[in-house]
This record gives sequence, structure tokens and C-alpha cells, in this order.
Amino acid sequence: MQAISEVIPVLSSVDNYYNSVPAVLDRVETITGKSLKRYECDIRNREGLEKVFAETSPQAVIHFAGLKAVGESSKLPLMYYENNISGSVVLFEVMEKFNCKKIVFSSSATVYGNNPIPYKETMPTGDVSNPYGRTKHFIEQILGDVYKADNTWSISLLRYFNPIGAHESGLIGEDPNGIPNNLMPFISRVAIGKLPQLTVFGGDYDTKDGTCIRDYIHVVDLAKAHLCAVAKILDTTGINAYNIGNGVGYSVLDIINAFEKTTGQKLNYIIGDRRAGDLPAFYADATKANTELGWKAQYDIDKMCIDTWNFQTKNPDGIK
Ligand code: WQD
Repeated sequence: MQAISEVIPVLSSVDNYYNSVPAVLDRVETITGKSLKRYECDIRNREGLEKVFAETSPQAVIHFAGLKAVGESSKLPLMYYENNISGSVVLFEVMEKFNCKKIVFSSSATVYGNNPIPYKETMPTGDVSNPYGRTKHFIEQILGDVYKADNTWSISLLRYFNPIGAHESGLIGEDPNGIPNNLMPFISRVAIGKLPQLTVFGGDYDTKDGTCIRDYIHVVDLAKAHLCAVAKILDTTGINAYNIGNGVGYSVLDIINAFEKTTGQKLNYIIGDRRAGDLPAFYADATKANTELGWKAQYDIDKMCIDTWNFQTKNPDGIK
């Protein structure tokens, strides 16, 4: 598989650093041996974005920018709609203005809502249980309308399942600001003593052990899926959704047990109340990404836990 810098020689990063820090990009450059043009800019800032496009003339965009915590979105829906949807519309308008019509969009498995599992790309989307997932669904629909109006666009919608883990170097990994909303960063901060206890949100679901089931995927497998999607959009036009998951469901207790087994760390946790917006279980049918993108997840749950813990122990206070 080609590295993205072989596919696109110059890479630029546009980030408002709401949930990251510039030092992360220093480490990305160390890992890849490639330099990145960097812009601190919010995608809702049309003028700033136009400056980026004028200076870089991008061939393609990978659109990661968005708030992404299911639980938080139920508490702050307007923040999620304004940031995720308004920001995306500004980005797409600037892309159109600069004749850049190739995009990989970071979508989400939450768009499937209450469909039967495993989720397939042919299933209806939109019956979503939380504002976060609804923003992803609306943005997919917006891109669908953009393509209908102008079929010279080339669009890949990558429906992420549950990305966890870290780069095996331990240089970069999941390092959210403040108290983590997501399971794995919360687990690793309890294990290293930064947080006192994990609450498992619900032990009475209709699943094998009463806790929710998700399709966890190593973040490096996820990154490789983007390389495959970029290669495809550079060569074609059209719009396609792809499930980016392992195709295997693990419960919260499975994750806790795997983490304790692979790291030797005993986790302090309790079983608490359910979290608003959570679905009992979902996982992917990832066949389409394999046949059309030539992508398949390689790493298992143990590797995800080992790489998470390696990153946490090497960065006990996160990346500054
Ligand atoms: C996973 C499970 C919680 C925290 C994620 C991303 C979202 C999207 C879909 C990409 C759930 C439980 C969590 C905790 C817990 N991904 N949990 N205690 O909600 O499935 O959504 O995947 O687009 O961006 O957020 O992930 O990690 O929040 O929760 O018991 O302290 O862990 O109830 O069952 P979720 P999550």
C-alpha cells in the first residue's frame, strides 16, 4: 500500500486544536519522516479556509473536523449542529470555489441507528439515537445532494465504528482534552491513576453480559482505510459509503478483561446507569471496503489494548 505522501506529495493540516495540540503534528512528522504544512484554522472560518486553499490548491480533502462524543452531544445538541454541520457546509463551499471536488469524509456507524446487525452500507440511515450521529447523517445527505447537482465530485463516506488504540511508537494516540467521553481513553487514565474509577454505563442490556457491544477497530487500521479511500477518489468520480470496522462485536466487559489481561493492570470499575443515546449493540459488515478499497482490518483487540497502554505510559500527562 502506498503512503499517502506518495499519493499526494504535499500534505497540509487544518485544525482549530479544540481537541488536540500542535505538538501532535511534530510527532506525526517524526513517524512519517514527511513535513506537513500547518494551518490553525476553524473550518467555520470561511476567510481563513479560503486562504488555505489559495496557498495550497489541494487535490483532495480528508474531512475529520467535528465534535464526536455521543454522550456529550445529547447534552449540547446545538453546539454539535453548529460546529459539525455549519462547518462542513463552509468547507464544501470553499472546496467548490477552488475546484477541489475530491473528499474523504469521516462519518460514523451511528448513522445506522436501529438497523439489524451487522450493519451494511445498503441499509437505510438516519434513524439515529443522538445528535452526534444525526450530524453525521445530515452531512452524508448534504454530500449526496452535492454529488447529484455536480457529478464531477468524488466522495468517500467512511463510516467509522469504534476507533481505539495508538501508533505502536507510543508517540501519538487518543489524548482528548479534559475528562474522556469515550471508553478506551477513560480506561487507560484509570489504569495510570489519573482518574479514580470507570463507570460501565449499564449492565442490564440484552447482550451476553449485559453491557453494550461495539465494533472496536485499531486506529492505525482506520488510518490505512483513508489511504485506500484517497487513492480511489483520485481515480474516480461518484459517492460511496464504506463501513470501517472489524466485523466483530466486543462488550464493555470484554474490553476491560482484554485490557487487564494484556497490560497486567487491574481496573477499578463499577456498573452504573445507562448513558442517554447508547444502543445495546452494533458491529460492521466490512465486506464492501475490502472488495472496493482493498482494505481489511489487521489488528485484534489485544493489540489495541497494548498500543493504548504503551501510549499512555509514555505520555502519562498527555501530549503538551
Ligand atoms: C463505547 C461503549 C458506552 C465510556 C463512538 C464514538 C463516536 C463514533 C461511534 C466514530 C458504550 C461505554 C463509555 C465510559 C462506558 N465513532 N462506556 N463508560 O458511544 O460507541 O461512540 O463510536 O465516529 O465518535 O464516540 O463510543 O467509547 O463513548 O462508548 O461504559 O466511561 O463504552 O456506554 O457502550 P460510542 P464510546
